[in-house]
Amino acid sequence: MSAQAPFSLPTVAFFGRTLAEYLQCFCLDAKELRGLRILDCPGGPGSFAAEATALGCEVIAVDPAYDVGADELERRASADIDACIAQMRAKPWAAPVGDLEAYAVAKREALARFIDDFRANPQRYRAASLPKLPFADRQFDLVLSGHLLFLYSPLVEDGLLEGHRFDLPWHHQAIGELVRVCATEMRLYPTLALNSAPRRHCYASPIEADLEARGWRCSFLPSMYAQYPLSWNDCLVARRLSVGATT
Ligand SMILES: C[S@@+](CC[C@H](N)C(=O)[O-])C[C@H]1O[C@@H](n2cnc3c(N)ncnc32)[C@H](O)[C@@H]1O
Repeated sequence: MSAQAPFSLPTVAFFGRTLAEYLQCFCLDAKELRGLRILDCPGGPGSFAAEATALGCEVIAVDPAYDVGADELERRASADIDACIAQMRAKPWAAPVGDLEAYAVAKREALARFIDDFRANPQRYRAASLPKLPFADRQFDLVLSGHLLFLYSPLVEDGLLEGHRFDLPWHHQAIGELVRVCATEMRLYPTLALNSAPRRHCYASPIEADLEARGWRCSFLPSMYAQYPLSWNDCLVARRLSVGATT
C-alpha cells in the first residue's frame, strides 16, 4: 500500500455512470449491443439502463439500493458523489486521470437521467444483492458488473472498503451467480489494485482460475476509461466456452 493515506470508504458508494463511460470501461461498441438482453449489476444511480434501452437493448439494472423511492435515491447519490469527489480532490493519486470537474459532471448527468427513468420505468430496476439474483439460468446475453467486484474488496486486499464484507470467498460466490444468469459473455471492471503501485488485483488470478474451471475463457482488455493509470486498467472479459459449461 502507498505511504499516503489510502482512498477508503466505510460502505459501498451509491455512485453511477453514463452509457459513454460504460462503453469505455467495458471496451464496448454501442452498435454491438443492439438487441441484446443485458444485466447491469450493480446499476447504481447510473444511466446505462435508460440510454442502452433507447439504443434498442433489453436492460435490467440490479442494485440493493433500489428498494427505496426516487427522492431518497437522489439524496443518497448526491451525498455519495460529493463525498467521493471531495476525497479524490484531497487524494489526487486516487483521482481520475484528467479533469475531475468533468468527471463529477458526468456523475450528476448519469444521476439525473437515472432518476427520471427510475420514476418512469420502475420495471427496469430490481432491488437484489449479489451473491443471489432473482433471474433464470442464462437469462442474459451480456452481464456487466462495474465498480463493485475487486474495487470493494478489503483495504488490505487491494480494495477500498473498510472491513471484510466482500472478501475472496464472497467474490467466488458472486461470480458464480453472475455467470449462472449469463448465456454468453460477462465483463467486469476495474480489475486493478487500488492504493498500490499499478498492478493487477490480487483476486484476479483466483477469479480467472475459477471462471476457467467453470468452462469460461477469460481475457483482459485494456479499458478506454481514463479513471486509473493506463497500466493494468483492464476489463475482464469472460466468454462461455460451450453450452455444456457447468454454470
Ligand atoms: C460504485 S457503485 C457502481 C455502479 C455502476 N456499476 C458503475 O460502474 O458506476 C456500486 C454499487 O454497488 C451496489 N451494491 C452494494 N452491495 C451490493 C451487492 N451485494 N450486490 C450488488 N450490488 C451491490 C451499491 O448499492 C452501489 O450502487
